[in-house]
Amino acid sequence: MVCARLLAVGAVLSSSVLALPKSFRTDPTTEHNPVRQFEAQADRAQAVADVFKTSWEGYYKYAFPNDELKPVTNGASNSRNGWGASAVDALSTALIMGEKEIVNQIITYIPVINFGSTGSEVSLFETTIRYLGGMLSGYDLLSGPLAHLANNKADVEALLTQSIHLANNLSFAFESPSGIPYNNLDLEDRRSDRSNNGLATVGTLILEWVRLSDLSGNATYAKLVEKAESYLLKPTPAAAEPFPGLVGMSISPEDGTFKDVVGGWIGGADSFYEYLLKMYIYSPTRYAPLKERFVLAADSTITYLTSHPAPRPDITFVAMYRGTQIIKTSQHLACFHAGQFILAGQVLNSPRYIQYGLELVNGCHEVYIQTATHIGPEQFSWDSTSVPPAQAAFFNRTGFYIDAASYQLRPEVIESYYYAYRATGDKKYQDWAWDAFVAINATTRVGSGYSSIADVNVEGGGEHTDFQESFWFAEVLKYSYLIQTAGGEEWQVGKGGRDRWVFNTEAHPVRVAYS
Ligand SMILES: *[C@@H]1O[C@H](CO)[C@@H](O)[C@H](O)[C@H]1NC(C)=O
Ligand SMILES: *[C@@H]1O[C@H](CO)[C@@H](O)[C@H](O)[C@H]1NC(C)=O
Ligand SMILES: *[C@@H]1O[C@H](CO)[C@@H](O)[C@H](O)[C@H]1NC(C)=O
Ligand SMILES: *[C@@H]1O[C@H](CO)[C@@H](O)[C@H](O)[C@H]1NC(C)=O
Repeated sequence: MVCARLLAVGAVLSSSVLALPKSFRTDPTTEHNPVRQFEAQADRAQAVADVFKTSWEGYYKYAFPNDELKPVTNGASNSRNGWGASAVDALSTALIMGEKEIVNQIITYIPVINFGSTGSEVSLFETTIRYLGGMLSGYDLLSGPLAHLANNKADVEALLTQSIHLANNLSFAFESPSGIPYNNLDLEDRRSDRSNNGLATVGTLILEWVRLSDLSGNATYAKLVEKAESYLLKPTPAAAEPFPGLVGMSISPEDGTFKDVVGGWIGGADSFYEYLLKMYIYSPTRYAPLKERFVLAADSTITYLTSHPAPRPDITFVAMYRGTQIIKTSQHLACFHAGQFILAGQVLNSPRYIQYGLELVNGCHEVYIQTATHIGPEQFSWDSTSVPPAQAAFFNRTGFYIDAASYQLRPEVIESYYYAYRATGDKKYQDWAWDAFVAINATTRVGSGYSSIADVNVEGGGEHTDFQESFWFAEVLKYSYLIQTAGGEEWQVGKGGRDRWVFNTEAHPVRVAYS
């Protein structure tokens, strides 16, 4: 049983991994990643870095150390418990861009955060991917290849100490009858709302908490998340897995059973599938059973969820499902699936996955280039039997219609362009990423920063809804930058050989384990 195997694995201390063991070089994952030529587009990379600086200056002046900038009104917002989410989320991007002053503004602030105190409900998932992921990535980069960017070594150590403090503040979430955590937490009273948890919110903790175990030497963090993950790998009841590897989205922490059969690569499910593969990249020896589940899900996706809109049979989308019934709807969030298949193809030596991922990239590109702003919508569908009359002509031309028209500074399409470029070396993907970046810059730039917009399908994007998401710093600007740089840096994926870093779902690069 997967669970027993996972639980038997101890933590590996970072101090024991200074040299690459020989067995590593012959790992099966290293052999089919040929070295490609990548071309730097220095002017574009610089333009992305300039936008990062503009966004940071607006945030730093008007909102720091609150969570987010409200760029239209020069106000601040605290949607992530008021611990400075944008600052922590910006750290790994500032590091990769070599923005030393910003890096030190962030790392001198992190030691003063009190992760034991907040006025609002805490999401275990959001806190893990943004704060814990951001600090662990900062620690990995600053105790490794980017050590020269820290003015004070004590600030680097504090990144790990604060990660430990944060996890200790959160760990009571796992005190449920099953060991599946509750997501919605009251930190001060160490209580939760005891509601059902979700597939993505349970299944997107394992990379960060295992990394914390490996860095701290405290095996408890890994044990907690491996126990929770075990229920996702072996779902009950059996009906919760309508296609092999593809499961429902609602899970009871009381008894570990699934409570629905709805799913897909959409928000609420998405990054569970992402972390199945990424844990295998993190440690192929420890997490091979997760890879097996990923392969099942990926193969079922190709077989059962692949869908071509009637007016545009040249386009490939991935449907969602209710039981075995297919629902022809997808989301901006889901577009990471393209990059995920490409990454899987590289890691698992599967040209079929790469080819499929490139088809999906093309579908996501279509969703961008067909709107008035050249930015893709939050949610879209392609069911010929329920096209809104007002969108019939649009649907006939584009192959999709818009269910939710906003754009919330999301990264997934540019993220997939990045993986496509790294797998093919085809400059076309750099150009697509640049076109998307220029469109986003032109439409979302407002006041002291960048804002979510109300409608991607009207000129100008409709209303600026006055919110600069923290993942704008962590993800959009990082992937927009990385795809235009030459690619010799060790954190770039697909350099040839085994990847040395794996990006968490918030785009924070985490150094892979050596065993
Ligand atoms: C919570 O985190 C703070 C630091 O951010 C730390 O001082 C405190 O001891 C932690 N509480 C627990 C219960 O670990
Ligand atoms: C390891 O982490 C757990 C979970 O937060 C905590 O309860 C325990 O005290 C830690 N152990 C040590 C030795 O710090
Ligand atoms: C869209 O295509 C359908 C099927 O070909 C056709 O019946 C309908 O008139 C078209 N609608 C518009 C607005 O072009
Ligand atoms: C981004 O927008 C600003 C403000 O409109 C403009 O000055 C700048 O040239 C734009 N950058 C790119 C790369 O389009």
